[in-house]
Amino acid sequence: MSSTLATVYIHPSQFPDRWYQSYLDGFSAKEIDHRFHYDSVKQSQKWLKIHATYSPVTVNEDCIQVYDRCFAETAKRLENESKLQLIALGCGGGTKDSRLLSCLLTKERDITCYPVDVSVSLALISARAMETVAPKASFQPIVCDLLAAGDLIQLIDREETGKSKIVTFFGMIPNFYPQQILPILREFIVPGDVLLFSANLAPGRDYLQGIHEVVPQYDNELTKDWLITILTDAGVEIDRGKISVEIEPDENNPEISRIAFYFEVEREIYFKIDDREFKWQVGDRVRLFFSYRYTTAKIHDLLGSYGIKVLESWEDKNQEEGVYLCEAS
Ligand SMILES: C[S@@+](CC[C@H](N)C(=O)[O-])C[C@H]1O[C@@H](n2cnc3c(N)ncnc32)[C@H](O)[C@@H]1O
Repeated sequence: MSSTLATVYIHPSQFPDRWYQSYLDGFSAKEIDHRFHYDSVKQSQKWLKIHATYSPVTVNEDCIQVYDRCFAETAKRLENESKLQLIALGCGGGTKDSRLLSCLLTKERDITCYPVDVSVSLALISARAMETVAPKASFQPIVCDLLAAGDLIQLIDREETGKSKIVTFFGMIPNFYPQQILPILREFIVPGDVLLFSANLAPGRDYLQGIHEVVPQYDNELTKDWLITILTDAGVEIDRGKISVEIEPDENNPEISRIAFYFEVEREIYFKIDDREFKWQVGDRVRLFFSYRYTTAKIHDLLGSYGIKVLESWEDKNQEEGVYLCEAS
């Protein structure tokens, strides 16, 4: 990674033809897939800034310690393993996975890391961050759309033999429909593998009240500016609408709710990308993003229903973040 050329594997799910079709379809369906908010260098830099400003893991020392406790426990469980592979799904900037690596490297080990992300930029940034703490490890960044890369684990398995596997899925579950991503995540692990998982929580005893309390972490200028970038880049006249932020229940499971961003059209909008035309009428709502909030009890139930067993869990004092050590059941 530190030489002038970096090798990045691009899975077919992120080949330009498929990417472009889904990108255009999002404008027609008035539902933007969150993966398109990380795509350009500009967008990923904006997201990294939000993460540095609002993420409990960067602003709350207690939250960092929660991750460290999970990582220490993971290192203990894998004490006798000298060969490891780390598959970091949706690695983002790689902050959490780098901390994990430094805990695993208190003894000499042969480690291969796969930072996996939909964004080339973030896969590379993350690989670089991990390499800084583990210069002797091997790195293979992979770019894919996890929802359309069901064969990825077989492709990785082909490259690896005899290494114990750790899969991380940090801060990912909030932005996916659980019924879409969890069967895919389950495919990444077999009995004996370790899955480390984290979720944003709704603090306190009253679930909905807890979600209301964390809305300011979303409803702010940095986040709105990040989410509107996809529209301005597509040539949408954004002064013809406004962004609203609201809490809504999941359609299939009313036990869970999410914070959703909509672009509300106030004056008709017409735009064209290549030969595709888009017309949004007054009153149309374009969903830009959503983020589910959970509780630890809900995570146990949800993961259990997809064959994933939570062995240990940690929450920060503010109950805004939960970290879970899991295995295939
Ligand atoms: C909320 S961030 C979490 C980043 C990191 N794991 C952390 O906890 O800081 C979500 C990450 O998932 C990536 N992502 C979004 N949709 C994806 C998809 N369909 N497939 C793979 N990665 C995706 C984004 O690029 C981003 O890096």
